[in-house]
Amino acid sequence: MGFRGRSSIHFREKKAHEESGTVFTGYREWWDQAAESWDRAKDTTYVVNDEADYRSRGLHGDANSPGARQLVEFGGLGSQSSVLEIGCGAARIGREMAAMVGEWHGADISPKMLEHARQWTEGVSNVFFHVLSGSALSMFEEASFDFVYANTVFMHLDKEDLYQYLLESHRVLKPGGRAYFDTWNLLHPDTYRLWLESQAGNRGTGKVRGRIQFSTAPELKRYLEEAGFDVIRFDEDKLLQAFCEKSTVRPWANEDGWPPFGYVDGPRNESTVTGDFEVTGWALDRVVRIEVLADGSTSLGEAALGLPRPDVGPKFPRYPEADRCGYRLHVSTGVLAAGKHTLQVIATDSAGRSTDLAGYHLGIVVAG
Ligand SMILES: C[S@@+](CC[C@H](N)C(=O)[O-])C[C@H]1O[C@@H](n2cnc3c(N)ncnc32)[C@H](O)[C@@H]1O
Repeated sequence: MGFRGRSSIHFREKKAHEESGTVFTGYREWWDQAAESWDRAKDTTYVVNDEADYRSRGLHGDANSPGARQLVEFGGLGSQSSVLEIGCGAARIGREMAAMVGEWHGADISPKMLEHARQWTEGVSNVFFHVLSGSALSMFEEASFDFVYANTVFMHLDKEDLYQYLLESHRVLKPGGRAYFDTWNLLHPDTYRLWLESQAGNRGTGKVRGRIQFSTAPELKRYLEEAGFDVIRFDEDKLLQAFCEKSTVRPWANEDGWPPFGYVDGPRNESTVTGDFEVTGWALDRVVRIEVLADGSTSLGEAALGLPRPDVGPKFPRYPEADRCGYRLHVSTGVLAAGKHTLQVIATDSAGRSTDLAGYHLGIVVAG
């Protein structure tokens, strides 16, 4: 198990330093193979000449990543600081950083990588290793670290896993703690060509697990904001590099600038209604009013809001009202002539922004 020494970080389960839950074998198998020998493990970051070169890259950084020095400086770290690296590999950065901080924790999906890391840091007393299982840091308590970083890792992850690591990083950081993340920029001409080239080997079932992946700058910034980070510096070259701080207030705690969103559960498109019917669904993001229109102009009335929706709540944890975001309007068919009609379900938020929850088209047929 990847742990040694005594750490001041509090673990959820004191003895279990390996994350529980489903093991995402794809990542682990691929990276264990990539780390099959020490030379191969070193080369996963950059083709390395020798150990002096590897140490230099760990300390000073290189064309693809910052090193320990830059990260320590950005994080304002010192001998009392606790640091976590996600996807630490063979502890290229960790070995150098350990000398400048209180505790350095390296977490990785690949036990094989961590074996190399342990050997590379032999004799360094303040390094600790943890085997991950996919995209959670569930062995760490909230607010455990002063600094969290993932260097040359996110470009090997599916977006969902990248985003989960951002949420988890936010959780395990202390208030005001800092973080660094990077990935390849889809829209830089050079990396865009790399992406085009990578098509050949990565289609359908032939996809390589550890392939390089890409994001755009607005996309990464949006994930960071959503996860609760303030971006202090954002470098946008071939590499997207985000230097961040844990926000004290989530931006969307007040106003996110976006219109409401939601769903119409009923009536179903092109269904036939006989007698009275109900327009039902859910809507989120400070909705103050939902009006149902027929054929673009005839108001059928305003829906009752705030109805319980226990099925929706857990899917949208950032919206405190998500458990009670249901709406319902009872419509008497007497107000509509027999035949085809379209419905619009207009949700309006407290800032006056509105959206049609029915989208492009919701048709019903009123039975004669
Ligand atoms: C290119 S290496 C970078 C290593 C190290 N960060 C460095 O800069 O030297 C990518 C690392 O990410 C790890 N990794 C890949 N997928 C992962 C995942 N889902 N969760 C955690 N680590 C992962 C790999 O095992 C590998 O050690």
